[in-house]
Amino acid sequence: MERPIYVTEVAEREPKYNAGLMVTLDLWHDKGASEWWKQFSKKTSFTFKSRCFFGKEGERLFHQLQEAIKKRDAEGVRNILPKMNIYCQTNYEDLKSIQKWAHKAIQMPGDIGGPRKKEVREFLTSQASGRVLETMCGFNSYFDDSLNITEVVALDFCKEMLERYAYPKRIKILYDLEQVVKGKQMNFFADGSFQTVGCWGSNYLSRQKPVFTEFRRILSESGKLLILENIFEGYSDLIKRHFNPEKCAKSMRESGFDVKIQPLPWLKSTWVLGDYYLVQGIK
Ligand SMILES: C[S@@+](CC[C@H](N)C(=O)[O-])C[C@H]1O[C@@H](n2cnc3c(N)ncnc32)[C@H](O)[C@@H]1O
Repeated sequence: MERPIYVTEVAEREPKYNAGLMVTLDLWHDKGASEWWKQFSKKTSFTFKSRCFFGKEGERLFHQLQEAIKKRDAEGVRNILPKMNIYCQTNYEDLKSIQKWAHKAIQMPGDIGGPRKKEVREFLTSQASGRVLETMCGFNSYFDDSLNITEVVALDFCKEMLERYAYPKRIKILYDLEQVVKGKQMNFFADGSFQTVGCWGSNYLSRQKPVFTEFRRILSESGKLLILENIFEGYSDLIKRHFNPEKCAKSMRESGFDVKIQPLPWLKSTWVLGDYYLVQGIK
């Protein structure tokens, strides 16, 4: 039996800024400044070395840059940009997908989507029981400790995510589910050894059916596979397909599950565009 790779290290989530994205987000409400910045970058043929990440000094300069953009201070912007280049560590677009996820693990200051994630977590915790496997867990667990749950095992292919996982004492396993797509089994998990499996990123998998079939193998009789997604959300540079509850349900059925689709209209907030669904597969 293959031994899993355990991640025991714990790391802080530091606010490192994704410059290209943060300029856009920060100027979101300031249409004039946003347009000015767009024209300015075109005219000077300046583009951020794609989306780059800065340390503390870089952040200071970044805030100066934002202020200069808001004031439409062309000379100020021209002075700051070359200094910022020094702090560009990597050209984001050149990274492999696992490295992009690693950046996302440390990048989000103040938890994008924070309050909604709390509601999602409370709901999913109420749906789970027994021994639970939280796959594609990221740093933000959707399973709280609860009386119905005996254990949560976390799994992700990104070490940086697992190091920042919200429950550092849980067992954390580093594993790429694309291995399952290629025909492998997670044979460090015995048949029927979980009562619940959660999967928070099935749209990032190249194929879902083999992975759902493997989830079914490790679930006990009547065990549940839970997938909760929004039809609109997903990182455009990483996603393989947008979530479609019917198509997800079809892949689950083909993997041998009985399936229920539950729309979750109460999860929608004013700034969230798509609808949320829980697709639940019962073994
Ligand atoms: C949408 S995020 C996690 C969701 C998280 N609970 C949240 O707050 O939204 C998707 C996660 O899937 C992981 N992931 C992507 N591809 C994977 C793969 N092939 N195998 C395992 N994990 C993967 C990423 O590292 C990332 O942590």
